[in-house]
Amino acid sequence: MKPLNIGLIGYGFMGRAHSNAYRRVGHFFDLDHEPVLKAVCGRDKDQVGAFARQWGYESFETDWRKLVSRPDIELVDVACPNDMHKPIALAAAKAGKMILCEKPLAMNSLEGLQMTRAVEKAGVPNMVWYNYRRIPAVTLAHDLVAEGRLGRIFHYRAKFLQDWTISKDLPQGGAALWRLDAKVAGSGVTGDLLAHCIDTALWLNGGIDRVTAMTETFIKERKHNLTGKVQEVGIDDACAFLARFENGSLATFESTRYARGHKALYTFEINGEQASLCWDLHDLHRLQYFDHRDEGRLRGWRSIHVTDGDHPYMGKWWVPGLQIGYEHSFVHQVADFLDGLAKGKPTGPTFRDALQTQAVCDAVLRSARSSRWEPVRRY
Ligand SMILES: NC(=O)c1ccc[n+]([C@@H]2O[C@H](COP(=O)([O-])OP(=O)(O)OC[C@H]3O[C@@H](n4cnc5c(N)ncnc54)[C@H](O)[C@@H]3O)[C@@H](O)[C@H]2O)c1
Repeated sequence: MKPLNIGLIGYGFMGRAHSNAYRRVGHFFDLDHEPVLKAVCGRDKDQVGAFARQWGYESFETDWRKLVSRPDIELVDVACPNDMHKPIALAAAKAGKMILCEKPLAMNSLEGLQMTRAVEKAGVPNMVWYNYRRIPAVTLAHDLVAEGRLGRIFHYRAKFLQDWTISKDLPQGGAALWRLDAKVAGSGVTGDLLAHCIDTALWLNGGIDRVTAMTETFIKERKHNLTGKVQEVGIDDACAFLARFENGSLATFESTRYARGHKALYTFEINGEQASLCWDLHDLHRLQYFDHRDEGRLRGWRSIHVTDGDHPYMGKWWVPGLQIGYEHSFVHQVADFLDGLAKGKPTGPTFRDALQTQAVCDAVLRSARSSRWEPVRRY
C-alpha cells in the first residue's frame, strides 16, 4: 500500500470522526493507499498535542498555514468551522494538495465558487464530507431510486430536528458555540442541517429548480462568548421551505434547533408512482420500503434491516444481521475516496457537487428575505 500523508485541521467532533475513519479504513477495505496520520493542527498547543498523542498523529502544528505548506503533507483535511474553509482550501489548492473539506462547503455560494474554481484549476482531488450518503440504508435508497423502482417521483419530504439551543441563556460564539455566530457559521440550521438534507435530496432526486422559504430566529439576542457583550443573533434558528425539483416532484424541507425532544432527527421520505421509501437517522440501519406491485394480500411497508452482505458496504463488515453505525459512514467515504484516487476518478460529493447544495441554501435564505419563490442558480 502506498502511504498517503494526511494533515488534519481541527480536532473537534469532526476531527475525531475523520481520524477514526483514517485509522480503520485499511483494516476493512482493500485499498491501494494507506492514510498516514502525519500532522494535526489546532490553535492551542497543549490541546492539539494531547489530541495528536491520543490519535497517533506523528506531529502537530498550531498554525494552519504551516501545515498546508509542509512538503510532507499530501492531503489537507478541513475539519474546522465554516469561516475557515475558504482560506484553507484556497491555500491548499495553491500548494497542490488534495482537499477533503467539511460541509457546508463555504459560507455562501460565492465563496464556494471560488473554492471550486481553485481546486479545478489546480487539478487536485477534492471531496466534501456529506457523509450521510454513505450510510448503507441511504446508499440503498439511492440505488433503488436509480434503478427506477419507485417510478415517477411525486414527493420528497425531509426534516432535520434538534433541540439544543432552546435556552435563552445559551451564549453564542467561541468553542463549541460557533454555530450560533453568523460570522463564523454563515447561517444557522440552513447551512448546518438542511445542507445535509439538500445534499441527499440532490443525490437521490436530481436538481432543485426553485424554492420558497421562511426562517425564524426565536432568541434575538445572546451574550457573545468572545466579546462578553449581548449581541444580535444573526443565524436562522428554524427554516422551512417548499421546493420544486427539475423532475417535476414537489418537496418540503424543515429544520430547527427548537424541536423539544429531538436530538438529531434526520428523516426523508420519497413517494413514487410504484413505490415509496423512508429513512430515519435514529434508526439508521433500516430502510422502510413499500411496493405497490406486491401481491395485494401481502402488500405493506417492509422494514429492511440493511445488514446483509449484498447491501451497500455491508460485505466489508460483520455477518448478516449485525449493525454498524454513524462513524462507519466516514470510513466508507474515505474508502470511496481512496478507491477513486487509485482509479484516477473523482469521488462525489466533489466541491462542485457541494457548490450546488450551497446554491440551494443561498436561494432558501434569499427567499426567506424576499418572501418570494426564488430560482436556484445552476453551477
Ligand atoms: N459531516 C457532518 O455530519 C458534520 C458534523 C458536524 C460538523 N460538521 C462540520 O465540520 C466542521 C467542524 O465542526 P465540528 O463540529 O467538528 O466543530 P468543533 O467545534 O467540534 O471543532 C472545530 C475545531 O476547529 C478548530 N479550529 C477553529 N478555528 C481554527 C483555526 N483558525 N485553525 C485551526 N483550528 C481551528 C477548533 O479548535 C476545533 O478543534 C464544520 O464545518 C461543521 O459544519 C460536519
